[in-house]
Amino acid sequence: MKYQAIKGVKDILPKDIGKWHFLEKTAKELFETFCYYEIRVPVFEKTAVFSRSIGEDTDIVEKEMYTFKDKGDESITLRPEGTASIVRAFVEHQMYNPPSVVKLFYSGPMFRFERPQSGRFRQFYQIGVEAFGSEDPSIDAEVIFILLELLNRIGLSNLELNLNNIGCPDCRPVYKNKLQKFFESRLDALCQNCNQRHVKNPLRILDCKNKGCIEIVNEAPTIDQSRCDICKTNFDQVQDLLSKLGTCFKINPKLVRGLDYYSRTAFEVLASGLGAQNAVAGGGRYDGLVKEFGGPQTPAVGFAMGVERIISLMQDQEKFAFKPKVFIVSLGNTAKETAFQLLNELRMAAVPSDWSSNQGSLKSQMRKADRSGADFVLIIGENELKNEKLILRNMKTSQQDEIPLKNIAESVKSRIKS
Ligand code: HAM
Repeated sequence: MKYQAIKGVKDILPKDIGKWHFLEKTAKELFETFCYYEIRVPVFEKTAVFSRSIGEDTDIVEKEMYTFKDKGDESITLRPEGTASIVRAFVEHQMYNPPSVVKLFYSGPMFRFERPQSGRFRQFYQIGVEAFGSEDPSIDAEVIFILLELLNRIGLSNLELNLNNIGCPDCRPVYKNKLQKFFESRLDALCQNCNQRHVKNPLRILDCKNKGCIEIVNEAPTIDQSRCDICKTNFDQVQDLLSKLGTCFKINPKLVRGLDYYSRTAFEVLASGLGAQNAVAGGGRYDGLVKEFGGPQTPAVGFAMGVERIISLMQDQEKFAFKPKVFIVSLGNTAKETAFQLLNELRMAAVPSDWSSNQGSLKSQMRKADRSGADFVLIIGENELKNEKLILRNMKTSQQDEIPLKNIAESVKSRIKS
């Protein structure tokens, strides 16, 4: 019986892992420079954690959650995103005490039952940050800057930051009303989904990918005429601060995001060359969520990036691949025994090293050494053992040097560095 991975779920193979490590390492270094601290939360939660925060009328909650009853008859959901779990943890551990700005980062798998296609998976990874405890627009700008700087450090270009301010609980209902009125006379032309959205959540219509709906949405009123003075000023300040940091952005008044918890700042980073699934990251402010989860009123802002989509944009597979420094080739049984010991000596001296435990001919071992990508090959034959001198071959330049068997790890280390 041959098994295959479940549809929409991917293995990450050793040949690809170098890019993942590079992204994760670069992200951790950058986040810590900005004094964000790592948090790890469970991959499953009580269903209400997600349904209450993301919104009952969103696609994620309506159609995409992996929800099941556990053996204790509790409704459990595999996390479709990280923010809700982190807010739950923030409140549960009273991280608002003592009051200060709490800045967190996280990474890990998320689960959404979406129709799999290029760039869209049912298990996918996110890396994200969440900053709690400040309404100041500088924290919005900081979070957005971190995201763009990370994308820059891993060498991505052709990205576009789309920015909006989707209003607050004071002014968004006004906009919602305007939208409802606008769509009322156009319901026949809207898709079935949007007809349902119209009653409960007309802002969702702005996000519809249906061609007919997009045409109508193009004519729809935008939030900019409905923002209250506080949101207007806040949006201006965020833009001003981003400009001060040299960040380019495009105002997109139709950007609403697919989750209901947002207020004010909302943003997405889009990449060309990814087809329909071109959002590599998204985020925004969610000032009401901590209170909704039973904590004190605590403003918050964050983002999450889709790791697979970002990895697919990273070029230069070779550059990120892990390779041994040294590959040992041995000829004959005695040489093999010595090779086994030397291999361990090199490894204990922190030199990534390998060999072929099946030995084989010189030619086949050299082929394996080449395939491994090792920078150097250490050759041990009967003669070398007799003379207590081994051959170290530089695989790039083909230069060969004789090095003494004694203190081999030290001499190899000094040569491979130079
Ligand atoms: P989101 O926009 O739903 O936001 O997801 C963030 C990113 O995850 C997307 O831009 C995309 O790159 C990636 N992503 C989403 N679904 C899939 C999928 N099925 N397959 C592959 N990649 C996917 C959030 O999740 C919010 N929690 C972000 C946030 C953090 N807002 C505030 N703080």
